[in-house]
Amino acid sequence: MRILSGIQPSGKLHLGNYFGMMKPILDLQKEGEVFLFIADYHALTSVTDPRAMRQGSIDVALDFLACGLDTEKTLFYRQSDIPEVTELTWLLSTVTPMGLLERCHSYKDKVAKGLPATHGLFAYPVLMAADILIMQSQVVPVGRDQKQHVEVTRDIAIKFNNLYGEVFTLPAPSIRDEVAVVPGVDGQKMSKSYNNTVEIFGDPKESRAQIMRIVTDSKTVADPKDPDQCNVFALYKLFASNAQRDEMAARYRAGGLGYGEVKKRLFEMFDAHFAPLRQRRAELQKNMDHVEAVLRSGAERAAAVARDTLRRARQAVGLA
Ligand code: ADP
Ligand code: TRP
Repeated sequence: MRILSGIQPSGKLHLGNYFGMMKPILDLQKEGEVFLFIADYHALTSVTDPRAMRQGSIDVALDFLACGLDTEKTLFYRQSDIPEVTELTWLLSTVTPMGLLERCHSYKDKVAKGLPATHGLFAYPVLMAADILIMQSQVVPVGRDQKQHVEVTRDIAIKFNNLYGEVFTLPAPSIRDEVAVVPGVDGQKMSKSYNNTVEIFGDPKESRAQIMRIVTDSKTVADPKDPDQCNVFALYKLFASNAQRDEMAARYRAGGLGYGEVKKRLFEMFDAHFAPLRQRRAELQKNMDHVEAVLRSGAERAAAVARDTLRRARQAVGLA
């Protein structure tokens, strides 16, 4: 099974990214051949400072390596190290109906949030389709917000295959229901653009403050509470074992449990999970040559697959 996903280097990674996308990918390394890339071409639609772009890519690389990516097995690369992706984007663009892109929510959402309304932002699902199809990916693990893009990819692949013959494998999204939408500290979807995140590699004091700021209702300590309506519990259960989750849920329902106590417990679990990874990240940061070598080797292996698919696609459409 070939599994592929990408993440934009456009901000500090948070618990939504971690549980929605990073952890599923890390777990899937046991089940198939994983291709994971830093989507820097995509990030150009929002990051226009070259230094921030370079630093963002380094940060994502360090974050994933610190979280335990196995780079012997997994191909980890920068999207821009495979320029074949942009040529395939053009071939796919010529078969992509405008209506398909006009129906995508993300363009309108991002423009509403203040991103410039560029052609790149509008055509971004075609670039994403090229990322996926060029590697002949079968499974694409993402959060729910990216599901539509994987469906668009499938539609584009079907269109191309029908016109020109079977060149592309049809991919399917893989979404874990329980982490499809991780809430932020204000209860909306956690997202860097809503300023409601808990960063995974931020200063622990700041992470603690972010957790203590999680919005709750005004029930008193004595009141029985519904765990399923609580933003603190929604994050707590991501770290808890099933037994810990059930025990905490029972304490919510019984009354006598204050939100402050759950927040403190949540921070302890957060810190126990990320402190060793933070340390590993600091070690990796001292050896950036190693990090660069990992990305270069990933790119070399991925480029071989990309060149083969692109050659077949060019041949199929009648380019020399
Ligand atoms: P952001 O919303 O912070 O800009 P991205 O759009 O860059 O995050 O998302 C990167 C990856 O993380 C995608 O696969 C996305 O689906 C996943 N993801 C982001 N936020 C969440 C969330 N709150 N819950 C679940 N998955 C998420
Ligand atoms: N668009 C994705 C995001 O913003 C990142 C991405 C780019 C991606 N290409 C991809 C994810 C291919 C999965 C597969 O999060």
